[in-house]
Amino acid sequence: MGAFFAKLFGFFKKHQSRVVIIGLDGAGKTTMLYKMKLGVVVQALPTLGFNYEVVKVGQSELAMWDLGGQTHIRTYWRLYYQNTNGVVFVVDAADHDKLAIARTELHGVLQEAELKGVPLLVFANKMDLENALPVTELSQQLQLHLIRDRPWSIQPCSVVEGSGVEEGWQWLISQLK
Ligand code: GTP
Ligand code: MG
Repeated sequence: MGAFFAKLFGFFKKHQSRVVIIGLDGAGKTTMLYKMKLGVVVQALPTLGFNYEVVKVGQSELAMWDLGGQTHIRTYWRLYYQNTNGVVFVVDAADHDKLAIARTELHGVLQEAELKGVPLLVFANKMDLENALPVTELSQQLQLHLIRDRPWSIQPCSVVEGSGVEEGWQWLISQLK
């Protein structure tokens, strides 16, 4: 009888996907998280640990883990990888000097066994800034063409203006198993 109800409950329970949001400090991850959760742009403080929110996007329910991007916090990212269905890497398209570090961090993350084959969405954020690089240039700098072991996409966006955000998440959801 217990098994029957457990099965019935499982049938009605909404499927939830787990997503980690990573990227260098200041890229806009927390701003993205709360824009998705609350629909508004909040002024975020640097994240010293993580923020966690469950967000409904269309019919999908996403458990979003926004991880702090400062150098010494990045070593803890791997503690959050287990059972992850999607990786979101946010990059500041206007911060040219940090792109090389972003590339190294991104390709390091993709080596992690727990994230094998997991779809990757790169948000090229802050497109509202005058010196933001075009997405083709960013793809090249981040060497995205080397990624052959998973579906990936790069989406230009501006979280503060609200452009490109929805499209990016829609792509990721279309890839979630
Ligand atoms: P850490 O928590 O340190 O890893 O940083 P983070 O990636 O969470 O960055 P956060 O969301 O705190 O944003 C850093 C700064 O970038 C804030 O001042 C945001 O307002 C700003 N920001 C975020 N998105 C955009 C954007 O689309 N355009 C512009 N111009 N600024 C943005
Ligand atoms: Mg943050």
